[in-house]
Amino acid sequence: MIDPFGRAVSYLRVSVTDRCDFRCVYCMSEDMNFLPKQDLLTLEELDRLCGVFIDKGVKKLRITGGEPLVRRDIMRLFRSLSTRLGGPLEELTLTTNGSQLAKFAPELADCGIKRINVSLDTLDPVKFKAITRWGDLDKVLGGISVAQKAGIAIKINAVALKGVNDGEVEEMIRWAHGNGMDMTFIEVMPMGDIEPDRFDQYWPLSQLRGQLLSTFTLDEIDYQTGGPARYVRVKETGGRVGFITPLTHNFCESCNRVRITCTGTLYMCLGQDDAADLRGPLRASQDNKVISEAIDRAILRKPKGHDFMIERDGSRPAVARHMSVTGG
Ligand code: 5AD
Ligand code: SF4
Repeated sequence: MIDPFGRAVSYLRVSVTDRCDFRCVYCMSEDMNFLPKQDLLTLEELDRLCGVFIDKGVKKLRITGGEPLVRRDIMRLFRSLSTRLGGPLEELTLTTNGSQLAKFAPELADCGIKRINVSLDTLDPVKFKAITRWGDLDKVLGGISVAQKAGIAIKINAVALKGVNDGEVEEMIRWAHGNGMDMTFIEVMPMGDIEPDRFDQYWPLSQLRGQLLSTFTLDEIDYQTGGPARYVRVKETGGRVGFITPLTHNFCESCNRVRITCTGTLYMCLGQDDAADLRGPLRASQDNKVISEAIDRAILRKPKGHDFMIERDGSRPAVARHMSVTGG
């Protein structure tokens, strides 16, 4: 799958549910409307769709949500996808809020999952409750530790939030590195309507990085994971810090990914509305060729990039859907 700008698509992110057991203030409104369950692809349909993408050159699969581990029977999907590892599929992974990790990590490890991303924006239990509205920090920390004991490497992803976690990023880095984890910061992106003003939340990573320089020595390294993060090594801790900067630095030129939602809609870009329905073709025919052709037509429309922008007052989200529809 090669798009019009010569970028090869080798990475598929699959949202298996739009639901979540948290209500993070930058992600969801408190009273979200979720999709009716009958609109969702079944686990068998998700497996089949992933199979078509793998046959078309996808080497890395990331399961996302909402919170992927709240989808009923989700381990059945991990189990079936894991049978493709070692063939053309090189990596199967997930992004999670960590709330269910204590329960699922050993089985995930058994399915060949080697690394996972855990979203965690603060180590302060009171702030954690304020950010996630419904989350419990101890449960997440416990889950991380179970996953590590099961042999899974963890990367911590934190959204940089002005006035919220800006006073503790140094502590978070020390904690992550002290426990053998990479730490990545993300700029808040204007996706979906939420109650707070995103301008008030937005903390440019150029500023975060500037702040880190008064505590740490940051050495440029050319570590690459095929994603949008740019990494440095912190001399004092020996660990890596990544920066994902959709707003201050556009990273679209090396984009290698597409996303499907839990209803089988293919989004060619996180920051654009254009999409292609794959559920129709999936349900219309047992012939995977029909799906494959629908994917080919969509990839030809993959846009050059997003145009995220955050402004004071009245600035509307760049895309109407919430992050929980496509899982980041
Ligand atoms: N901007 C940036 N990151 C977001 N996430 C959710 N909503 C947003 C947003 N509007 C993050 C979560 C998680 C990842 C899937 O996306 O914190 O790390
Ligand atoms: Fe759930 Fe992740 Fe959204 Fe938080 S950011 S509400 S954990 S999907």
